[in-house]
Amino acid sequence: MIRILFLGDVIGEPGRKAVIESVRKFKTERGVDFVIVNGENSAGGRGITPKITIDLLRAGVAVVTSGDHIWDQKEIVPYLDTEPRLLRPINYPDPTPGHGSIVLDTPKGKVAVVNVQGRTFMQPPLENPFLVIDLEIERLRQETRVIFVDVHAETTSEKIAMGRFLDGRVSAVIGTHTHTQTADDQIFPGGTAFLCDAGMCGPSESVLGREIGAILQRFLTSRPIIYPVARGPVKLHGAVVDIDEATGLAMRIERIAEFFEPVEVPPAPAAENAATPAS
Ligand SMILES: [Fe+2]
Ligand SMILES: [Fe+2]
Repeated sequence: MIRILFLGDVIGEPGRKAVIESVRKFKTERGVDFVIVNGENSAGGRGITPKITIDLLRAGVAVVTSGDHIWDQKEIVPYLDTEPRLLRPINYPDPTPGHGSIVLDTPKGKVAVVNVQGRTFMQPPLENPFLVIDLEIERLRQETRVIFVDVHAETTSEKIAMGRFLDGRVSAVIGTHTHTQTADDQIFPGGTAFLCDAGMCGPSESVLGREIGAILQRFLTSRPIIYPVARGPVKLHGAVVDIDEATGLAMRIERIAEFFEPVEVPPAPAAENAATPAS
């Protein structure tokens, strides 16, 4: 059995800090073998930078997926061709920098990860995700049966349809992009684990990770507003999926929705020769 942790869209600095400090804990305390996070909002809520990608990988993340915000930070464009562990949606037209899938060796065998983007209420319209992933899955299954799909899409219908389309051919289909976790975690009849949306790793007192007041101003005034990333307690959202590595089918899916608890750093001990107040 291989245990994969998937975490939803990482929101800015609060989300990054929570993920970076939690990955090792998930591995040691919960036996997670492989970690995937969606990093499309990890740079101030918009896009991802090379440095943030490196920080996430160094923290123990194996693959960073993304979505429509992947292009928001300019320096990521040339970087995509140099770091295959950072994925952009696979159904961008050719030629587009970067890759939409990867196969990595692990002590428990090969793991494939695919990132695909939906088209309903999404900009820009990309190639048909169903046709593109169909070909890709057949190619990947020559290499491994353990295949994890991040479907980055707005509508529940498109994500559920993708899960049903791939049922029995991949290990898990988990949605991202809405930043709101759904409660439909299940294993489909063919053996594919499914969750319509993983949710986000970011401030819980927010609107999808952004400051509540700013978003309300947008809705109240209909004018463009800057939406800062919110502050306060951070929630980690995602799922853990146990997969039979021989068949690639899921055995269990468990939703993750928990507050991040920062590790308390004890105060530095007083120096031995510290001056003592004269009595
Ligand atoms: Fe997002
Ligand atoms: Fe998105």
